[in-house]
Amino acid sequence: MNVKVVLKGSEDRCYEVHCSAGLRHFFVEQIEKIHPGKRLFCIWDERVYKTWKDSSLGELENLTWRSSEERKNLSTVETLGRKLVKRGLDRGSVLIAVGGGVTGDVVGFLASIYMRGIPVVQIPTTLVAQVDSSVGGKTGVDLPEGKNLLGTFHQPSWVGIDPEFLTTLPDNFFYQGMAEVIKTAWLGDEELVEMLRNQHDQIKARQLKVLEEIVYKCVSVKARIVMADERESNVRRVLNLGHTFGHAVEQASNYSIPHGYAVAIGMRCAGLLSLELGKISPEDFATLEWLLKIYNLPVQIPEELSITKILSGFYSDKKKRGSDLIFILPERPGRTSIYTTKDLKLVEKTLKKAHPKFQNGK
Ligand SMILES: NC(=O)c1ccc[n+]([C@@H]2O[C@H](COP(=O)([O-])OP(=O)(O)OC[C@H]3O[C@@H](n4cnc5c(N)ncnc54)[C@H](O)[C@@H]3O)[C@@H](O)[C@H]2O)c1
Ligand SMILES: [Zn+2]
Repeated sequence: MNVKVVLKGSEDRCYEVHCSAGLRHFFVEQIEKIHPGKRLFCIWDERVYKTWKDSSLGELENLTWRSSEERKNLSTVETLGRKLVKRGLDRGSVLIAVGGGVTGDVVGFLASIYMRGIPVVQIPTTLVAQVDSSVGGKTGVDLPEGKNLLGTFHQPSWVGIDPEFLTTLPDNFFYQGMAEVIKTAWLGDEELVEMLRNQHDQIKARQLKVLEEIVYKCVSVKARIVMADERESNVRRVLNLGHTFGHAVEQASNYSIPHGYAVAIGMRCAGLLSLELGKISPEDFATLEWLLKIYNLPVQIPEELSITKILSGFYSDKKKRGSDLIFILPERPGRTSIYTTKDLKLVEKTLKKAHPKFQNGK
């Protein structure tokens, strides 16, 4: 199953995303078609290399790195860049990022600045990377002051997705990825919402056919949005569904709550706000909540996190405009709206509805 991403500008800014189980055996063949005669060089997440090196990519020149969010920084980019220089990679080379979102972001960033920019191919191996980070061209690394503060837009020249990689993904990463799947379905694909409702057993059992379909559908939604708004000036903001509340919760917990779980809590908060504003029906809100729960995702703010601390986080959300807060409101499946407000009281009221301390008459 292929999705074509066609970006405004010159012809060479179009690329394809291929998605099918077993595709890993044909990655090299495909990449050679796009980059004939080029030197292909893989940078692998070390864990992924250990398990999956017998795919066709294992035959290529490579280096591995021990990926982690803590090491998603400039120092890693420098270390990797120096290794590439030592190995003699030049402007005619192509980097291939094999791993989760951390590897994709780091290698994409490195490719965008290595010798003023060389092509990057994305081979995403986590659910988050397959449905979200590998398509769209955002790259970057963290600073001590915050996540993804240094980065570029550098579209990949090809994205190869093999859902079979997901069979070795630890449960917590799988379900965090499901938070982004639910997000993508709700903002752009009513049929996918139905699939998530009806086929949860097969999805949770990671049956390949059904994984292939949900990943393909998510990529299609993401590609459609990126094509409409490559640099997130407007339409692309809907991809932040659940992320305004989610980031604030994540930050208030000093990042002890993993991103996907914070997004799940954030989506329910966005749903509660939408309910308050009369934008979502109680039935649709109940479906959203049910979906989060059936995919083992949290929907309540942990009791120990204070509402005051979460509220202070809203001010440092780098995506806010001036003093306005921007929320993406879920409406019926497949539909969202953008809501801009200065009303922190309304935000506080919503947070309280998701906080155990303010429930059951406590
Ligand atoms: N660029 C974008 O548009 C975008 C979008 C969303 C998220 N992100 C970024 O993505 C990152 C999170 O990505 P992630 O959740 O993939 O994290 P990750 O890359 O850290 O991967 C999660 C864990 O799974 C392991 N792993 C990867 N593939 C595996 C496999 N097939 N089997 C077993 N283990 C495997 C990794 O070694 C790691 O321990 C964050 O840094 C976030 O900022 C970027
Ligand atoms: Zn996210």
